[in-house]
Amino acid sequence: MKKHAISSPLIISGILLQMLAGPLCGQTNKIEGGNMKPETTQQRNERMEWWRQARFGMFVHWGLYSGLAGTWKDKAVATRGGMEWIQQRVGADTWDYAHQAVPLFRPTKDFAVEWAKLAKQAGCRYVVFTTKHHDGFCLFESQYTTYDAKDLVGRDLCREIVDAIRSEGLKVGFYHSVIDWHHPQYDYQAAGGLPHPLRKKPSPNGPRNHSIYVDYLHHQAQELMSNYGPVDIIWWDYSKKGSEGPFWRADELMAMVRKSQPQIISNNRLYHTPSIEKEDPVERLRTWKPERGDFTTPEQRIPSTGIEGVDWEVCMTLNTTWGYSEHDHAWKSDEKLIRNLVDIVSKGGNYLLNIGPRGDGSIPEESIRSMQTIGQWMDTNGEAIYGTTASPFEAPQWGRYTQKPGILYAHVFDWPEDRQLHIPLKKSQAKQAWLLTDKDKTPLKIETESEAIVIHLPTQAPDAIASVVAIEWKKE
Ligand code: GLC
Repeated sequence: MKKHAISSPLIISGILLQMLAGPLCGQTNKIEGGNMKPETTQQRNERMEWWRQARFGMFVHWGLYSGLAGTWKDKAVATRGGMEWIQQRVGADTWDYAHQAVPLFRPTKDFAVEWAKLAKQAGCRYVVFTTKHHDGFCLFESQYTTYDAKDLVGRDLCREIVDAIRSEGLKVGFYHSVIDWHHPQYDYQAAGGLPHPLRKKPSPNGPRNHSIYVDYLHHQAQELMSNYGPVDIIWWDYSKKGSEGPFWRADELMAMVRKSQPQIISNNRLYHTPSIEKEDPVERLRTWKPERGDFTTPEQRIPSTGIEGVDWEVCMTLNTTWGYSEHDHAWKSDEKLIRNLVDIVSKGGNYLLNIGPRGDGSIPEESIRSMQTIGQWMDTNGEAIYGTTASPFEAPQWGRYTQKPGILYAHVFDWPEDRQLHIPLKKSQAKQAWLLTDKDKTPLKIETESEAIVIHLPTQAPDAIASVVAIEWKKE
């Protein structure tokens, strides 16, 4: 098939995206726009199973902006904040942006193998990466644009990344931006609340026909769903009130995605969700609608509480930018990262932690080190994270709880000076307790109080960040 040029993405007509609205009967979750068959709660639970077990994933933001590294024409743009937005921040058109960025985007041969190895080492069970970010540049080979990796660097980088992730036995997620700063028919004036380099300026190519862009978005999504084997997650980014669902023909888009990839798990950013987390993102959890995506996505902040029955994933940066910036040194500490993971899991959520590789695909050393440190902690304590669910109790002063059938995990952040750990269980409930660092599972002494048990700990915390005590117990 002939490629369509950047400036005039043509549309293939005659492709009818099927939308079959199935009847709603019994205990079903309707998928808006119609899935082929309505899904029962049990089917949904089965589809979500691996994701709920996984708890920890790696996010990767990588594209043309990565080579620019937060610098535009020799000047630092900022030391904080998302440098994947650099084109918008400096107000450049695609021509100028690409002219600066393409020469700096030089992927090494095995960059993807390094990413996948690091994710595995860190203990991540899935990797979500940017197939296309807001700048519109595609890492995948597309018939609908020449603004893709195949045309600009001669490689289908999406395929290389997918292959590498699969080789490590991890699940694959596609981040895909519905916002597109390069497409000449993307109607940024109609999408007034969403970022664009030309925001509030007239369109240089006259009135725009947004439906042409939406067709392009659908066709590219179809390519992603058809050309790379099974896709485990689709991670849309993002909508706002007024430019949400119908603006992208989202119901139709989701119906196509689910038809092509029946097992796929989707976030809900095709549809408007309130506030991108200025305050406590628990509001985002409350307004989650399963028919608009399987899980909701608090960004950069952890909700004060989880909500039963709501699937959610906190995405977060290691410093303050998603895309690489040579100026951002605000790296989070290991303590912060590991305790965040525990905190999120104790509330029933997943943690999607971002790396921003450089223009050659190499990962900043600070990120490698942090991810490896989390991995070392996970090697010992992973059983208190994977497959666990939200704490049955309020968070204690000294740390957090997670649980699995029959086992309560106490993640101790602040080791008690008196070496006594108070747990709100009755003596008849608690059978045994041991430290996860202790391979022999030597039983810790348990004493009874009126409304709690007391576990006697050794003097020294085995882990300065979070030591885990496993407690075998039964519910009454
Ligand atoms: C926001 C930003 C984007 C980033 C994303 C990650 O929507 O626009 O740059 O990719 O969040 O959650």
